[in-house]
Amino acid sequence: MLILGLESSCDETGAAVVRDDGVVLSDVVHSQVRLHAEYGGVVPELAARDHAKNVVPVVREALARAKVTLAQIDGVAVTHRPGLVGALLVGAQVAKGIAWAAGKPLVGVDHLMGHLLAIFLRRGEVVREPPSFPFVALLASGGHTALYRVDGPRAEAVRELGATRDDAAGEAFDKVGKLLGLGYPGGPGIDRKAASGRADAFELTAPMANDGSLEMSFSGLKTQVAELVRTRGPLSPGDTADLCASFQRTVTGVLTKKLIAAAERESVEHVVIGGGVAANRELRERVLLEASKRGLRAHVPDLASCTDNAAMIAYVGAQRIAAGERDGWDLVATSQSVLSVSTRKGRGKR
Ligand code: KG4
Ligand code: ZN
Repeated sequence: MLILGLESSCDETGAAVVRDDGVVLSDVVHSQVRLHAEYGGVVPELAARDHAKNVVPVVREALARAKVTLAQIDGVAVTHRPGLVGALLVGAQVAKGIAWAAGKPLVGVDHLMGHLLAIFLRRGEVVREPPSFPFVALLASGGHTALYRVDGPRAEAVRELGATRDDAAGEAFDKVGKLLGLGYPGGPGIDRKAASGRADAFELTAPMANDGSLEMSFSGLKTQVAELVRTRGPLSPGDTADLCASFQRTVTGVLTKKLIAAAERESVEHVVIGGGVAANRELRERVLLEASKRGLRAHVPDLASCTDNAAMIAYVGAQRIAAGERDGWDLVATSQSVLSVSTRKGRGKR
């Protein structure tokens, strides 16, 4: 079965053709990063307009690279939640148009499910053994950071175990990147700079790191970096690299520790990471190392499967279509995820 996937929830316009076993025939991503860079973050109205401009060429390109026509596609999958509603609407309406015109089934996909199952995508020659269910997953992106128990490839089989109380980990990378003048998004820039810095140069503490819970907090960390920048004045390139390394060490430390704790609490053998922050070199290394020390099996996706892409959406859509599920032409775009929530933003437990 071949599925055409569309993604437009934030600042990447994506289209991909994926087989239901995860083989990626094509995966086209048009990034809007340069468009939003001067504002230091995503401007929703600009995002929606840019998706509208690029979505059809991106879909055409995905079909051409996969060397298939719409007639050969078995279904259309589209991200319809969560995200910027104006941006989501573009993908959703185009997907409906394509599915209707081509007489193919349509399914809506939750973007977070895409990140959680991106580990099953098979790109190129490298064949990795996929995780088996149940597994515990850390999803760390620009908009979300949470731990989940995943018992199967469907939203009903996913349960949140804990999440950030405030900023997402990627949001913290982006804010610190901005503070240090590293541009937007901050994650890749910090990752690069950190490679030449000393991680023990600055003492930073991540709130909730040692509280024994599966909840997290990152906004205080950003404040610590802001204070350092304010009191020290302009930083030398060496200081900037040291601060990047110290910040990255702190964030990846919390994420790794909570992921391992979650797996042990749930008594599962497989751990998975996903989302844009899963592209971070240090996080990938630490998760693999700490998991192996404890006899757990860690699964780290290809870099292209971490940041936003339509291949992961097509894959989740394929699982829904294979299970006989279909959505109607009344499929709506909505800002909320379908996944359960156990951690409340702000203070206090739910
Ligand atoms: O999953 P994603 O592409 O979009 C969302 O769904 O949010 O994640 C984007 C986030 C941004 O915050 C970006 O700074 C972060 O992922 N990111 C990274 C790295 N690459 C992207 N963070 C740390 N290290 C990286 N190498
Ligand atoms: Zn994402």
